[in-house]
Amino acid sequence: MPQRKGRILSGLRPTGKIHLGNLEGALRQWVSLQDEYECFYEVADWHALTTAWEDPSALEQDIRDAVTDWLSVGLDPDKSVIFVQSSVPEHSELHLLLSMIVPVSWLELNPTYKDWLQEGKAPHYGLLGYPVLQAADILIYRADTVPVGKDQLPHLEMTREIARRFNRLYGNVFPEPQALLSEFPYVPGMDGRKMSKSYHNHIQLADPPQTVQQKVSQFFTDPHKLRRTDPGRPEICPVFALHKIYNGTEAQGIGEDCRIGKLGCVACKERLAGKLNEALEPIRERRARWEQRPSEVDEILAVGAAKARQEAVKTMEQVRAAMKLWSPALERTPEA
Ligand code: TRP
Repeated sequence: MPQRKGRILSGLRPTGKIHLGNLEGALRQWVSLQDEYECFYEVADWHALTTAWEDPSALEQDIRDAVTDWLSVGLDPDKSVIFVQSSVPEHSELHLLLSMIVPVSWLELNPTYKDWLQEGKAPHYGLLGYPVLQAADILIYRADTVPVGKDQLPHLEMTREIARRFNRLYGNVFPEPQALLSEFPYVPGMDGRKMSKSYHNHIQLADPPQTVQQKVSQFFTDPHKLRRTDPGRPEICPVFALHKIYNGTEAQGIGEDCRIGKLGCVACKERLAGKLNEALEPIRERRARWEQRPSEVDEILAVGAAKARQEAVKTMEQVRAAMKLWSPALERTPEA
């Protein structure tokens, strides 16, 4: 195996079939890192439970759908370890041990937690501890690199602080992981807000061509452009934002024609739908093939969990030793 640049861990909460925002915001980068790094990619189902605890019954299907999409965009189980968080129970042990050294005041500063409070919702213990669980996810693989979007930076900073504190208290076990940020294009949804499943403004990778076309036709555009001949403002138009991503060479001309009233929104959207469908077609084809073979997807996750666990078990031995935890039973660690 060629020398790798380092070890990566990243994860996504399983929210079912993934959409263009997930693709551009994370997965493209994940795929492109597979050859350079040793990669662990996790379906963060426990993290999903911090908000989906009332009805976890959809999680199983959501996990399958997410992983099917991951494979369809090119995550390769021969290169990367693809696994479900809850199948590596060692994460929960590390989460517990780390929770002893994390001041609650750090967690109360977490922006996601503060948003939650601001919305008047009553937070649970699990939600407060969300960043500690995320730190455990990363540190248990002694990952040095974490590809994430900007929204995850506070969580990563917390992971680094936890690693430093652990190392200072008990000895050097964890590398301090670095974020690998790349400039992701802004992916707006149908209503112009950030594309998100919770806003119901998203285009899924699994959407059939007609659905893509129909969703694109419903996109907001510049509200001042009512007729084709009205001058438009591409810089505020979500359709144009997608042209920039999916219609590289033609985007500039499209922007100019919109601005001078030569191109109307209907035609502009038709062109976008065509480009999007072109980009999604190979993914859809692979998806259809994976959908025929659900047991292979299960097998990939089982193999991934076993590989992940091997590493996690090794780290936990070091962690327990560093913390001087002792139990006679621990001396007989079951084989992973
Ligand atoms: N919190 C991340 C998100 O919402 C998901 C996640 C869980 C994660 N564990 C992780 C991301 C570890 C990076 C590393 O997208």
